[in-house]
Amino acid sequence: MKHSRRAFLEAGLALPAVINSVPGLAGAWQPITAPSQDSSFDPWVEIHRENLRHNVAEISRRVSSRPILAVVKNNGYGMGVANVAQLLEPQPEIFGFAVVKLHEAFSLRDAGTRKPILLLGPFDEQNLSDAVARDILPMVYTRLGPVPDKIAAKMQKPVSLHICIDTGIGRVGVPYHQAAPLVRDLAARKSVRIAGTMMTFTEDPDFDKEQLRRFSETCSVFEKEGITLGKKHAASSFSLFQHPEAFLDMVRPGMAIYGIYSENEFRHTNILDLRPAISLKARVIYAKKLRKGDSAGYNRAYIAKDDVWVATIPVGHADGWPRTAAKGAKVRINGDLYPVIASVSASHCIVEVGPEEKVKIGDVATFFDAQPSSRPEDVSESCSASVYDLTMHLNPLLPRRIV
Ligand SMILES: Cc1ncc(COP(=O)(O)O)c(C=O)c1O
Repeated sequence: MKHSRRAFLEAGLALPAVINSVPGLAGAWQPITAPSQDSSFDPWVEIHRENLRHNVAEISRRVSSRPILAVVKNNGYGMGVANVAQLLEPQPEIFGFAVVKLHEAFSLRDAGTRKPILLLGPFDEQNLSDAVARDILPMVYTRLGPVPDKIAAKMQKPVSLHICIDTGIGRVGVPYHQAAPLVRDLAARKSVRIAGTMMTFTEDPDFDKEQLRRFSETCSVFEKEGITLGKKHAASSFSLFQHPEAFLDMVRPGMAIYGIYSENEFRHTNILDLRPAISLKARVIYAKKLRKGDSAGYNRAYIAKDDVWVATIPVGHADGWPRTAAKGAKVRINGDLYPVIASVSASHCIVEVGPEEKVKIGDVATFFDAQPSSRPEDVSESCSASVYDLTMHLNPLLPRRIV
């Protein structure tokens, strides 16, 4: 498209038009001195330092001060892996961190994390060598043969690792009934230090008990042989509520640290007081009155039954806000909750404000936060979105602000 002077003038005029309609910004129009990166209307993610601290203290109380291996995988459950680790590291209850991607482990070390880092994800020989060089512990479930010997000789230190035993989840982990050759091989190598042994529950409450029995029996066979298995761990957030007998030597939660109940039924127990440490916010970019019969959204997903005010917010499924939000989720603006209507498109959603003009351009819209009725679990319940998707699917490019 050719840029005419006319088009330039129109574009230039549009910005003050928005600014003048934003309370607090009207009249504050200053010449721009530094180039903008993000629009101040764009969505952002807030990470609540104090709530994280509170949740860790709660978990520690629940597990009688056992060490906590904080799962910070998938970009720190949406909060930014380095942000979360940086906030958690000073807490004495936190033993270390678990990630799935090698690059997350490296970025934690680059950000200055000194506590142990367990890599739950896959690696090749070169990856392992690079990980050991940076004191990152691999989770192992296949025979490594002489690889640790070579790496230990090169690094002049043993390869510390955790063994993963599959007791019924069927994904990674050596099957418990075939674990002996692997465990004995690792234990026999001077180049290896078994720092931990772990399993993952299926979170089927009855079968979990059988899984724990399999794990305990398997471990005790090796321990009777004199093999040191390091810290034994199994409990994710689910087990913090369901299986105190599975706390073992260390617990391994993710979601609970971030203050979110992984199952809605846990909210109605007094087992843990969790406070969400994550919020998603943006500012309203447009508010207008639809006339009775006017439509909104692709495919005219919404038809106004009466004259009604609606507001558009620049948050869509590309930002991580689920499409299903249009089927019952609410957004809080100026203290009131408004239903998401029509459809969630890639970069926008629309809320129904009602017969009065109660929302203006620039008002802050909260998608979820720590307040009752706008917690992530409320959104999840209202539109059948998993709380894990709500946080982990947040676009990593959104700005994160620690508050
Ligand atoms: C192996 C493993 N342990 C622990 C966790 C933490 O789970 P949660 O966030 O439910 O506490 C996860 C997360 O999925 C995991 O994959």
